[in-house]
Amino acid sequence: MAKKKPMAAKRLSAPKIRADEARYMMKTYRRPPEVFTHGRGCRLYDSHGRGYLDFLAGIAVNATGYVHPRMVRVIRREAGRATHVSNLFHNAYQAPLARKLAQWSGLDRVFFSNSGSEAVEGAMKLARAYAHAKSDSGARLKTRFLALENSFHGRTFGALSITHTAKYREPFAPLVPGAEFVRFNDVADLDAKFDDTVCAVVIEPIQGEGGVHVVSEEFWNRARQLTAQHGAALIADEIQSGLGRTGRRFAYQKFSSLPDIVTVAKPLAGGLPLGAFIASEEFASALSPGMHGSTFGGGPLVCAAALEFLTIVEEENLLANVRERGAELRAGLEKLAARFDFIREVRGEGLILGLDLSVEGAPFVAEALRMGLLINCTHDHILRLLPPFVISKRDVAEFLKKFETVLARAAKFVNKSSNKPAAAASKSESQTQPLVLAATR
Ligand SMILES: Cc1ncc(COP(=O)(O)O)c(C=O)c1O
Repeated sequence: MAKKKPMAAKRLSAPKIRADEARYMMKTYRRPPEVFTHGRGCRLYDSHGRGYLDFLAGIAVNATGYVHPRMVRVIRREAGRATHVSNLFHNAYQAPLARKLAQWSGLDRVFFSNSGSEAVEGAMKLARAYAHAKSDSGARLKTRFLALENSFHGRTFGALSITHTAKYREPFAPLVPGAEFVRFNDVADLDAKFDDTVCAVVIEPIQGEGGVHVVSEEFWNRARQLTAQHGAALIADEIQSGLGRTGRRFAYQKFSSLPDIVTVAKPLAGGLPLGAFIASEEFASALSPGMHGSTFGGGPLVCAAALEFLTIVEEENLLANVRERGAELRAGLEKLAARFDFIREVRGEGLILGLDLSVEGAPFVAEALRMGLLINCTHDHILRLLPPFVISKRDVAEFLKKFETVLARAAKFVNKSSNKPAAAASKSESQTQPLVLAATR
């Protein structure tokens, strides 16, 4: 019997989709030619029905994989009730979700947004509002933000102001004034830049887009000490590293102190748009009715989905799976690093792992795609792996086997002396496979 084609594939014409995208969409993304139609578990399928083992998970979003039956059930159920009621009214799911996020984080109060960037904006506003509320004189001097070199906090103006990468920032200048960058893990530089005019230090405990760099305990402790002493906020941006990706609920939970404010988004609602910032009572008290809001943030459908996601992580013991599969994946990558001398370092924790290459990473991403693996490259030479929390031992073994071939094949194209793909190879690459998944975030 002929193989049954996926439903979506019958309706879609991939060339028409590509043509209409090229004609009607803003030119913000470079994409490979594949058109993805559906997924199942840790696999994503294109319009030809070809499956890809997804070690990118929608950029750290699809933590329970595709069409997890519990997520599908809840989303279907709520779609048949009320998807939106506005924040002028109570809904059934914000409170239980806020309660769980408070328990998970060790903090007290939650505000729901629609995206990560918007959660960061809210966290920045809260830090300013707190500083203003505490100022005796009413003089608004405590307004500066310190972020880290290589940081990524989002694309809106506030979040962009504390995002380090120049190419994201410079086309949109001037940004929000008062942001400055501290050298990564450099306590002396933090000491030099911190003073009483700082309202917040913003840290990704593990930088994701920046290239999977792990913040040191010494740096975190000093940031905690300075902010506590001077009445500034310590903000942990856990949009990529949080909600289980390290094998802990939050990456900062390996440190002995809590931040004042935490941002979350990405996996929170199982692929539906939802973010949040969570704060201690002390900081949260700086907001009163009318000061901050959102039309869509925290609607019943997304909150029900998020509640189900967090419950799945607990009930299916996914934190342990992240730790165990992460350790296997890392061990396999370390072995490959010993074999391929262009892998300078394997970094990360749990299932946020980076391979720092001494050569350009884009050919490896393109070769991985050809081999049926989805990965990403950030900052030109760091391959980033962000698989779903539900990956199995077999998935890890399959990935490592195929990835070994990817490394061996793509290595042939890279000219180590120039750190660039060899001319002939890069030409044919760019004609056939725009180097997409190398894009950002
Ligand atoms: C650490 C971090 N903060 C903020 C953001 C922005 O989130 P969003 O793209 O949902 O606005 C991202 C996105 O990659 C991120 O990784």
